[in-house]
Amino acid sequence: MRYKGIIFDLDGVICHTDRYHYQAWKETTDLAGVYFDETINERLRGVSRTESLDIILERAERTYSAAEKQALAEKKNGRYVELLRQMTPADLTEEVKETLDLLRQAGCKLAIGSSSRNTKLILERLGLSDFFDAVSDGTNITHSKPHPEVFLKAAAYLGLDASDCLVVEDADAGIAAAAAGGFESAGIGQAAANPQTTYPLQTLGALYIKICNVR
Ligand code: BG6
Ligand code: MG
Repeated sequence: MRYKGIIFDLDGVICHTDRYHYQAWKETTDLAGVYFDETINERLRGVSRTESLDIILERAERTYSAAEKQALAEKKNGRYVELLRQMTPADLTEEVKETLDLLRQAGCKLAIGSSSRNTKLILERLGLSDFFDAVSDGTNITHSKPHPEVFLKAAAYLGLDASDCLVVEDADAGIAAAAAGGFESAGIGQAAANPQTTYPLQTLGALYIKICNVR
């Protein structure tokens, strides 16, 4: 196995919380009378909560004060957390579970590298609180993807160099972050079409076969 460590993005890679992000932002922006759609939502993948709101408000008809922005971000997060609380270990797909198990059996250390400040809650809901060897998330970084900080910290927590780790992402911002940090990457969803992606994948289930014979 070419990689000693695999660093997974969370939302949209390990679980489908990306659709809850969309739902919570959509409800919040509809109430506030701000236009928001699926195309804008694609730009929010991998981007922090506050930076996501700045992207959404590019389309707003007026400017929002810092206090108003904070209120909107809190409203969105409140709704998002409500949706997260409905998740159970059944939301972890067989495909994801099997991929994680195969990689661990192959001797890889496994980490999370996510911009989300809700990472620990999501891992708890999925029954994965004690599964990963390291968790780097929105609570331990000052720069969000496409800055490489979240992945560099994950590699450091694993005690590995970036060149020995593979990043798995669904976001263009995440693929850019991986490249900026000196990591190779696997991309699913929109990230599969990114020219900086080392291994474009249809689904996460294709990851193990793709990398197990790479030297
Ligand atoms: C990323 C998502 O994983 O986390 C982004 O792709 C989201 O869409 C970001 O904005 C921050 O999440 P949270 O849970 O801290 O609001
Ligand atoms: Mg993601």
